[in-house]
Amino acid sequence: MWPAERGDLDFGLDLGTRRTRVVDVNGTVVWEEASLLARRRGRDVVAVGDAAAEWQGRGGQDVDVHSVLTGGVPEDAVRLEAYLRAMMERLTGVGRIRGGWLVGVSAPWTASARDGVRQALASVGVSRVAWADGLACAAVGAGLDIAGPSAQMVMDVGAGRSRAGVFASGMLLADRHIPVGGDECTNAIEAWLRTSYQIVVPARVADAVKLRLATVVIPLDPARMRVRGRDPATGQAREVEVGQVEAAAAIRPVVDRLRKGLRDVMARTPPDAAGDIADRGWVLAGAGGRMMGLADRLREDTELPVIVPSSPDGVVAAGLAIALKDLGSERWRGGLPTLGAGP
Ligand SMILES: Nc1ncnc2c1ncn2[C@@H]1O[C@H](COP(=O)(O)OP(=O)(O)OP(=O)(O)O)[C@@H](O)[C@H]1O
Ligand SMILES: [Mg+2]
Repeated sequence: MWPAERGDLDFGLDLGTRRTRVVDVNGTVVWEEASLLARRRGRDVVAVGDAAAEWQGRGGQDVDVHSVLTGGVPEDAVRLEAYLRAMMERLTGVGRIRGGWLVGVSAPWTASARDGVRQALASVGVSRVAWADGLACAAVGAGLDIAGPSAQMVMDVGAGRSRAGVFASGMLLADRHIPVGGDECTNAIEAWLRTSYQIVVPARVADAVKLRLATVVIPLDPARMRVRGRDPATGQAREVEVGQVEAAAAIRPVVDRLRKGLRDVMARTPPDAAGDIADRGWVLAGAGGRMMGLADRLREDTELPVIVPSSPDGVVAAGLAIALKDLGSERWRGGLPTLGAGP
């Protein structure tokens, strides 16, 4: 839902599975940190955001590091509240931080997930909460005019979830939630190293292997790299050399789900709207959209130009900032995008 009026909203919140971003009405990003919380086993918060990431794999038995969201959904209200509280403390001094907040919703949140976010924000002093469709924000943040009559298509490939949709005249014409993103590729790399090479690596290492090797389109000269891990049978450290062709095969099932999701949206797009998109191409947003070769493969699949914004992971926050400024203006008179119906 694109809220009907601006009211007194001061900040936009993009709760991402990997990173949380807070933006003010001028488009200044005042918070951009990992959506992580480090707690001493079940009790005090030790760190939030990027500082919590430092505790991953280091706190021994004593410190647990949790994500605030699972697959794009803030399921644990206690964790969310602890995260927001610590974030607010660090943001004190940033204007009317406790005023009204516009929250981008990028995944199919249940009513109770929304209630949890509303309550968590209220508990840290936010007086008013409104909701915005995260995909509409991504489109607007990437420079698309979704309020105009001409149809626009956007896909946001995130960490824990993805979504593609078509907007025109401020309305959502077709969309699809896809419950995977870049983190599922990291999991696939971790599983591949375990089953094919009998080494267990921390998520941080699997992520580094993903960024270096995982590709949708295999290059002419595939890369190789050495990876250190632990042999689960003996507990000994071991190093193996792995290659890009196999890494590409490991992530293929995830890529196929993204491709199918986009195909489904296009199949449900009315012909006139499809014609508009064919004229101009479509936008691939989200940091997961940076996956090597993904834009090329989707360009081939759709036979349409693909535009990748210069900061694909910042477009939801950028769109929220535009919404904060622009809500209530004539531009949005025609209609307001509604939240997608779910998978
Ligand atoms: N250059 C890159 N190549 C491949 N993957 C990348 C690259 N840069 C970031 N990623 C991946 O993108 C994902 C993060 O995307 P993004 O920041 O859009 O997610 P998010 O907004 O936190 O989560 P979500 O929107 O799913 O709730 C991570 O899985 C990360 O590993
Ligand atoms: Mg996101």
